[in-house]
Amino acid sequence: MKILGIETSCDETAVAVVEDGRYLHSNVIASQIDIHRRYGGVVPEVASRQHVLQMMPVVTESLDQAGMKLKEIDGVAVTYGPGLAGALIVGLNTAKAIAMSMEIPLIGVNHLEGHLYAAWLDSDMPETSPGFPMVCLIASGGHTDLLVMANHGRYTLLGRTRDDAAGEAFDKAARILGLGFPGGPEIQKTAEGVSASLTLPRAMLRGTYDFSFSGVKTALLHTAQRSKVYPGGELDEMLMTERVKDLSAAFQDSVVDVMVSKTIQAAVEYDARGILLGGGVTANAMLRSVISAKSPVPVLIPAPILCTDNGAMVAACGYFHLGRGLVSTQAIDVDPGLSLG
Ligand code: KG4
Ligand code: ZN
Repeated sequence: MKILGIETSCDETAVAVVEDGRYLHSNVIASQIDIHRRYGGVVPEVASRQHVLQMMPVVTESLDQAGMKLKEIDGVAVTYGPGLAGALIVGLNTAKAIAMSMEIPLIGVNHLEGHLYAAWLDSDMPETSPGFPMVCLIASGGHTDLLVMANHGRYTLLGRTRDDAAGEAFDKAARILGLGFPGGPEIQKTAEGVSASLTLPRAMLRGTYDFSFSGVKTALLHTAQRSKVYPGGELDEMLMTERVKDLSAAFQDSVVDVMVSKTIQAAVEYDARGILLGGGVTANAMLRSVISAKSPVPVLIPAPILCTDNGAMVAACGYFHLGRGLVSTQAIDVDPGLSLG
């Protein structure tokens, strides 16, 4: 069963061909990061226009790389939310047109659920190893959700961020530190091998599985102001570099520590057989190594390229929907505020 997966919820125009929810035939991602970088963040209107320009070339490229014709595809899965409305529409309309003209099933996919199904790609089947229930952390630019996945399609939300998403916090922190966009990879690179000389606060919000990252961001801003890193221009280059490294490491330590502690606590409380991570922030090398080292249960983390937005995760999720008869009609609309669990 070969599924074409289409993802356009934010700033990547991404299309993949995945067989049986696991085998990756192609995974083409046209990133708009270079365009949005000059604005310091994703500009929705610019994103929609880019998707329109990139959509068909990316579909063609994905089929070419898979060595397949559209008529060999058995179903088309597409993200219909959450995300930017104007961006989602481009992918959804493309998927509708393909499904209608090829007379194949159309499968609407929740982007957040898609992030979890990245763990099924090119790996053992998580439903048998480690098996359900799994505690899932989805950490991306717009979400930080902790859930229990009892089976395919069965989620209970344990907690979510009360303010900034983890990725958003990384992006804002990077801006404070004068680093580039997106902030997560920049902070990771800057903090590499650095042992922070200071500790920034951790909002553990005990008694709940909710998160809060606005406090650490404000603490970072105040520390950066005190040490003359922000707004900049006062320190010589060497001192500036040294302090930015130190603050990057301290910030990353705090965000990673909170996410790891709460996820492991949930895994223990809910007798999870494993922990499953997904979303752009879970590409973070420190998060990956710390949670793997500390977790009492197996941790499944997709390869970094499958943690950030891609079409393969959408195709994988769509395959499992199709197996349960979950297909969409042409009446499906975008749902920018869609949640999971
Ligand atoms: O899942 P994603 O690609 O898009 C959304 O659904 O939002 O996540 C993007 C977010 C950005 O905020 C980016 O800074 C963050 O993921 N990110 C990272 C890393 N790579 C991407 N955060 C921390 N460390 C990384 N290596
Ligand atoms: Zn995402």
